[in-house]
Amino acid sequence: MAVGIFDSGLGGLTVLDAVSKRLPDVPLVYYGDSVNSPYGVRTADNIYDLTTAATERLFDAGCDLVILACNTASAAALRRMQEGWIPEGKRVLGVFVPLIEALTERRWGDNSPPREVDIKHVALFATPATVASRAFQRELAFRAVGVDVESQACGGVVDAIEDGDMILAEALVRSHVDALKRKMPNPDAAVLGCTHYPLMEETFAKALGEGVQVFSQANLVAESLADYLERRPEMLGSGTETLFLTSGDPAQVSDHATQFLRRKIEFQAA
Ligand code: DGL
Repeated sequence: MAVGIFDSGLGGLTVLDAVSKRLPDVPLVYYGDSVNSPYGVRTADNIYDLTTAATERLFDAGCDLVILACNTASAAALRRMQEGWIPEGKRVLGVFVPLIEALTERRWGDNSPPREVDIKHVALFATPATVASRAFQRELAFRAVGVDVESQACGGVVDAIEDGDMILAEALVRSHVDALKRKMPNPDAAVLGCTHYPLMEETFAKALGEGVQVFSQANLVAESLADYLERRPEMLGSGTETLFLTSGDPAQVSDHATQFLRRKIEFQAA
């Protein structure tokens, strides 16, 4: 049994970390496509091609269930994959739905009509491709009415994190928060709509100031996966070991991953 977790690079490790704490007995196969990161500046077709290739690699590693721990892939490729690409007996899930369920205070499978929710003004921070897809607004509209969403495409943040340049990443986050606040001065909630951003959560929270509830995906996705596997234990797949695969340079990716998660992570070539 093993569950696959995919991201364009290192951001999905925030999800992997939460999943491994929530489901310590489930082997996880992580695939970071570092050589092609960032995805957030690519076209939807290109993101689809890269995401299907990476998902295939995770199926080959014995995973029947793959989590796209990447909002950009979830926004730009998942629906198209679900419409005809996913082979029988396999499942691919994204990271948007658990987040939007939390924001709209819904439980899984609650398909009742959209309704008013407490949160009225949401600041969405995401990659340019995620913002352009409007996937977040689409998913939100299925569940809630009267929520004003202002998005900020956070160019450069993923590259800085992948390069391990946290000083640049912090400066960019502060300037993106300022830009968002010029458009929406008083958001009730902020969504960190990229799995790299929890690594910068403190900087986001500080720049946003008090009174803004920050929604970050890792724990929400872990909880939702635990719930899913309870209902569908047969999706655990045939893999038996935890593996970290990268399309990039394993030594460099391992160094950055170890620095982020503050525990030894050893990647191998995919
Ligand atoms: N972690 C990915 C996401 O959640 C980063 C995307 C990128 O590679 O630009 O969107």
